[in-house]
Amino acid sequence: MTERRDDRLWGGPFEREPNKQFDAFQRSFAFDRRLLPYEIAVDRAWAKALEPVGIFTSAEVKQTLASLDKISERAKTDSAWLESFGATAEDVHHFVEKALVEELGPLGWKLHTGRSRNELVSTDFRLFVIDAVSEVQHGIEALLNSFLLQAKANFSVPMAGMTHMQHAQPILLSHFLLAHAETFSRDITRLQHAAESADVCPMGSGALAGNSFAIDRNAIARELGFSRITANSLDAVSDRDFALDYIFALTGIATHLSRLAEDFVIFASQEFSYVILPDEFSTGSSLMPQKKNPDAWELIRGKTGRITGALVSLVTTLKGLPTSYQRDLQEDKEALFAAHDQVVDMLAVAAGAVAATKFNTERLKSAASNPALLATEAADYLVRKGVPFRQAHDIVGKVLREAEKQNISWTALPLESLKRLSPAFEADFSKGLSLNAALSSKKVPGGTAPESVADAIANLERRLNKKAIKTGAKP
Ligand code: ARG
Repeated sequence: MTERRDDRLWGGPFEREPNKQFDAFQRSFAFDRRLLPYEIAVDRAWAKALEPVGIFTSAEVKQTLASLDKISERAKTDSAWLESFGATAEDVHHFVEKALVEELGPLGWKLHTGRSRNELVSTDFRLFVIDAVSEVQHGIEALLNSFLLQAKANFSVPMAGMTHMQHAQPILLSHFLLAHAETFSRDITRLQHAAESADVCPMGSGALAGNSFAIDRNAIARELGFSRITANSLDAVSDRDFALDYIFALTGIATHLSRLAEDFVIFASQEFSYVILPDEFSTGSSLMPQKKNPDAWELIRGKTGRITGALVSLVTTLKGLPTSYQRDLQEDKEALFAAHDQVVDMLAVAAGAVAATKFNTERLKSAASNPALLATEAADYLVRKGVPFRQAHDIVGKVLREAEKQNISWTALPLESLKRLSPAFEADFSKGLSLNAALSSKKVPGGTAPESVADAIANLERRLNKKAIKTGAKP
């Protein structure tokens, strides 16, 4: 038979044409054509697997592979040709079959033997996610390099570390920058997990029940670079956990980017003036000539909503779906594609903006030099003299009140006044009370002492060079 009544994939038993509006509504070619490179790869692997089971002769495999290559090339270079399928191809799978039949005649109809779009779409999408993960990992590496660059360039600049947005204890600016580097290092771990979830090949699962031509599933998986094959055909066509894991990883990245953005927006405000916004990553006001706005950071913060939206969208689509393939699953792609594209852009802009930012070191240092930030050091001093901590805390509180009464800085209180509040105060007290002493005292691993931060910098550098970014350290 060399004739078919229509060129749909499923038109045989239907008597009437589909409603026009519904027909447009159900097509996915406009967005799933993005999966074409993966579809072609899967088609190639499938064509090869059909030979040992006697569906294709070796000549037919050769012809099919050559045509698939031709289709792939033409799709890359001839967008008008690809567009011309817009009104007729239902989805990317249908497109390839139509193009194959154009090339090969009825031989093009053989490739779909024993397989279903349900397993194809899952396989293509998994391959997409695996590549997407590596693209986003590169974006994170670029951002980590920007943190590294700034941490080195501003290594010993102190700043007022805050909790509850209140000045708390002095830290190094480099320590602050490396805190952000840690959050993004964790994102790499999450991305790797998403890639592992995706790294399982469904081909051979059929529409839901498996394959009756004894297809070599392992050979197909190997050919496509997968490490494993799915264990249950029914689960294989319903599972979108890999997509969920990926969007969750993207949501984590976007959330971290948004928090980074918030820090920089605040630091760029006149009240803080900790950073000088780079012209290349800022915009002005159409009305107020003096304005320079942190738009790069605001847009990063703003776009985070879309990524979270994609996560909610997918998890909502999946909730309540009966086991097996359901057409609802077609809704998994657009949100993921969009979230991926946004995060790639957000990371690139963040990496550029961090690298181009100038820090107002005078301003940072002056905030860090506020003696109030040394109050905890004073309590620690008393603890070293044998005073139980809670009592030491009380005593220092009284010291602060006394200084306030006398309207002087508490570090300027004479030893006699201090001794009246506690006999544990001695002549060595004021000597240890300095910004540098406070910084140097935090020399545990992970602390803000210069030597600890130098270790952290070396550690991040090593991880980046080895491309083995894992957060934390072995005790
Ligand atoms: N376009 C579909 C999707 O994205 C492909 C699978 C369609 N399967 C089907 N039985 N209609 O999910």
